[in-house]
Amino acid sequence: MAKLLGSVMTSHVPAIGRAISQRLHDEPYWKPFFAGYPPVRDWLAAARPDTVVVVSNDHGLNFFLDKMPTFAVGAAPEYRTADEGWGIPALPYFPGDLDLSWHLIESLIADEFDVVSCQEMFVDHGIALPMALLWPDQNWPVRIVPVIVNTVQAPLPSAARCWKLGESIGRAIESWDADRRVLVVGTGGLSHQLDGERAGFINKDFDLKFLDSLTADPQMATRYSNRDLVELTGTQGIELLMWLVSRATMHGTVREVHRNYHIPISNTAAGLLLLEQAA
Ligand code: DHB
Ligand code: FE
Repeated sequence: MAKLLGSVMTSHVPAIGRAISQRLHDEPYWKPFFAGYPPVRDWLAAARPDTVVVVSNDHGLNFFLDKMPTFAVGAAPEYRTADEGWGIPALPYFPGDLDLSWHLIESLIADEFDVVSCQEMFVDHGIALPMALLWPDQNWPVRIVPVIVNTVQAPLPSAARCWKLGESIGRAIESWDADRRVLVVGTGGLSHQLDGERAGFINKDFDLKFLDSLTADPQMATRYSNRDLVELTGTQGIELLMWLVSRATMHGTVREVHRNYHIPISNTAAGLLLLEQAA
């Protein structure tokens, strides 16, 4: 059976693409952000994942306001970048893991999550940039399965529903009859608001409470409505739902291996968390 190794949760901000392509890693603005990633890369080198389930939100690239699935799963042999982040050159395509894609889709639908299956899908900065932060040489050593959660157009799935989706994904991974090592990556958040009167809003207190909760009281955020979460974290801060889906894939003893939190990157409170699944 496949083995679930753990979860990496990270913010995604288009400006990271420009910083990568212009090699701004050691600039004072960027250093505290990029410095968060080497410990995660060391862990990855030892954990050796073969496949990554990447939970992210589409930002109007595959799905626009006229057709908006609540949950969608990629089932493509490869995924090309389209919105690849401000200024970063097009990244090499990501190989898909078709076997896990279809196992996941079948498992989720059997479990009453009626996901949209996508045999063609582009990936935007929500997937491409976290992958480039985890594997900076962009010679991807893993196959991917994108899971897309709508955080763009109301009505959004609740935090409680996202938790259940994560649990179902976790069960699917662990029932996959393949000798594969699987990592879950959740991308988005933490607090940020890009538009309206509260543009630039960041809530460090809540972000840190949320980071702590993912080991101490992992379902904490499910006790809030999305309206409350938007008030607490900003209109785009609701992307923290991706972190919740990722966390919920894990069960039993979950250990925090590493975290980073830095304000701001662009308009975003940039968070990074690595959680390990006990054997
Ligand atoms: C920013 C953050 C996001 O999550 C996003 O999708 C786009 C932009 C930002 O802070 O600039
Ligand atoms: Fe985003």
